[in-house]
Amino acid sequence: MTATTVRINYEIKDPSLAPKGKQRIEWAGREMPVLRLIQERFAKEKPFAGLRLAACCHVTTETAHLAIALKLGGADAVLIASNPLSTQDDVAASLVVDYGIPVYAIKGEDAETYTRHVQIALDHRPNIIIDDGSDVVATLIQERQGQISEIIGTTEETTTGIVRLRAMLRDGVLTFPAMNVNDADTKHFFDNRYGTGQSTLDGIIRATNVLLAGKNIVVAGYGWCGKGTALRARGLGANVIVTEIDPIRAIEAVMDGFRVMPMDEAASVGDVFITVTGNKHVIRGEHFDVMKDGAMVCNSGHFDIEIDLKTLAEKATEIKEVRNFTQEYKLKNGKSVVVLGEGRLINLAAAEGHPSAVMDMSFANQALACEHLVKNQGKLEPGIHSIPENLDKEIARLKLDAMGIKVDSLTPEQIEYINSWTSGT
Ligand code: ADE
Repeated sequence: MTATTVRINYEIKDPSLAPKGKQRIEWAGREMPVLRLIQERFAKEKPFAGLRLAACCHVTTETAHLAIALKLGGADAVLIASNPLSTQDDVAASLVVDYGIPVYAIKGEDAETYTRHVQIALDHRPNIIIDDGSDVVATLIQERQGQISEIIGTTEETTTGIVRLRAMLRDGVLTFPAMNVNDADTKHFFDNRYGTGQSTLDGIIRATNVLLAGKNIVVAGYGWCGKGTALRARGLGANVIVTEIDPIRAIEAVMDGFRVMPMDEAASVGDVFITVTGNKHVIRGEHFDVMKDGAMVCNSGHFDIEIDLKTLAEKATEIKEVRNFTQEYKLKNGKSVVVLGEGRLINLAAAEGHPSAVMDMSFANQALACEHLVKNQGKLEPGIHSIPENLDKEIARLKLDAMGIKVDSLTPEQIEYINSWTSGT
């Protein structure tokens, strides 16, 4: 893509960071062959010509490739951050300076700035929204009903956002189509599991540089993100304990070889705690009271609600920054608890989020979901729609091709066999 001469508005930390950002965006692109093919096709076919798009995503090297795909596809797109701590300022700079994409995102932005950026995204009067956590869609519905007639649809990236969309649907307020990117197989099997798994451990290590081998690591939640996190923690030699509220997931964790116990018990055993439940106050007052001196707590779920930091602060006599993204709370009981990444997504706060190779498939889903909304404008019912199976499978095929891996196909005899019910024992 060539640099643009059109003046655009933006709010980023520092445009002079652009060269570093461009270099890193190009590096990430090496691991994103599927999205590259989509970029090339979009550049020719311009599926979004004449359409306005607002994307609320973690502003990373991988998101840069999604934004570039949308722009090449003809979209008039703006990008805002989906989390105050996840923005990579050099990437934001490069998107503005090198690619002419308006970005409103600064790492460490306060809550007021974050919500103002959500308003800016809606001021763009989008026809399509790409959301990660559903903040833009929730604001649209609560504050901008007059704009809903301009919406073709939205896409949603993450489990938390899907949970919110389901609640909107239940309350009868979701009056346009929403594409459920999270539940595509080529998304959650890889991004949620291997992406969260690797990047969460990466975030903890970058923040603390502690040895994880031999530590008791408590993983709260055994959804796809929890499964990946537990798997990778075990790979580093930790003794992994899982906490769950769902009996089936709890059995799965047991049979995957993990110890399962309630947080009330795990609290006094753990050295490192990682929350990935999507729910509120999973680690709270009574748990902090019994933790070991120096226990570390962090979160890899979408919102910073999983650890009750307000109660922890009330129990503290002093809160001290001991390293980047690492705060020690000295408690009245004489012990201390160490909080990583302010309880926000540790993988994006202290590291760089999921690796490009998994985001390749997640964002291929996002790009194709946007195209699907446009191609089917006026035909999709209001509500939540799965990514069509043929798109999901096509993304998997393209990924395998790019990896140089071939797979079998059914023989005519096998096709006949699985389509008949007459031959049994
Ligand atoms: N969510 C998790 N990791 C991410 C990444 N690298 N880019 C964008 N969104 C993400």
